[in-house]
Amino acid sequence: MSRKPLIAGNWKMNNTKTETIKFLESFLPKAKGLSVDIVICPPFTNLFVAAEKLEGTDVKLGAQNMHWEDKGAFTGEVSPVMLKEIPCDYVIIGHSERRQYFAETDETVNKKIKSALQHDLLPIVCVGESLAQREEGITMSWIMSQVENALKDISSQELEKIVFAYEPIWAIGTGKTASAADAQEVISAIRKKIAQMYCSDTAEKVRILYGGSVKPENIKELMQEADIDGALVGGASLKPDSFYALCTFN
Ligand code: G3H
Repeated sequence: MSRKPLIAGNWKMNNTKTETIKFLESFLPKAKGLSVDIVICPPFTNLFVAAEKLEGTDVKLGAQNMHWEDKGAFTGEVSPVMLKEIPCDYVIIGHSERRQYFAETDETVNKKIKSALQHDLLPIVCVGESLAQREEGITMSWIMSQVENALKDISSQELEKIVFAYEPIWAIGTGKTASAADAQEVISAIRKKIAQMYCSDTAEKVRILYGGSVKPENIKELMQEADIDGALVGGASLKPDSFYALCTFN
């Protein structure tokens, strides 16, 4: 089974509207006919302007979060209906920064995934262990439980639309990348878990990315691993040249 690589840039709380326009005017003319799928996830305030610039290109747009309800009294939140109208294609769900600083739980992650799918948004679902959990030797059980809870009551047809991202928390923004072999070990275990929960055909179709200090210098090695289907990139996605280098790793 060959899965098309996906490189997603998660800008987090970086880049103003002006900086977004500047980035896209530099990046988009080069990003034509590449052999990977590309997603850019700017802050909410830049989604409209990014959507205008991305129209007619192969680069897809993603949001960094969403609420699971369509509308209502949820001050400061953004709904899947709003994202779809922009239009966004993808939405990151359950990033460790959301889990850590904004009290997201496996339960809210599952609600958001179901809501995103209902609204035809493709979820990029993040899982990952802390340094303490890795040192305690509970990485695998922790990640498998995150995967299992994320997929509660999700059908295999729906699962095929989901992208997973394994992001060890200790590797995010720290410059410490997991070794390609360590990332492969966890990602292949996630695929096996999906195969147990559904079937191996479905598991073979699901794209699973690695995230955590991915940069042009280390992406090739990561992508040589059999189960790593791409990268969710923070810092190195902020500059057009380094993001382009990541998208042309092969
Ligand atoms: O969503 C992206 C990840 O958190 C990785 O961020 O590439 O800055 O380590 P980073």
